[in-house]
Amino acid sequence: MWIKVLDKAPKEGTMLAVTAAGKALFVTLNNGQLYCAENRCPHEDIALTLGCLKGNRVKCSLHGYSFDLATGESSEVDVGAMQTYPVKQDNNEIYIEV
Ligand code: FES
Repeated sequence: MWIKVLDKAPKEGTMLAVTAAGKALFVTLNNGQLYCAENRCPHEDIALTLGCLKGNRVKCSLHGYSFDLATGESSEVDVGAMQTYPVKQDNNEIYIEV
């Protein structure tokens, strides 16, 4: 089910926290591509929006591990992947599929 989460895309290189279907998520526009993922580090319980974007990854502010925006792949072999979600833009509005 596609759920509208924003009236317009985030600014390039920024992450916006959103909530959909009771899930804390973030949406970002990185190098012109939209991404959506769970706004919680798979390592410990901290919001990934407190971190920063680096290349095509989000870097957690607590221990510096990073996660691929497209696949969720972790930089650490013993830390699970970040949950990602499909995201699309329809006119200006942003929708995610949960
Ligand atoms: S809590 Fe995110 S890397 Fe440890």
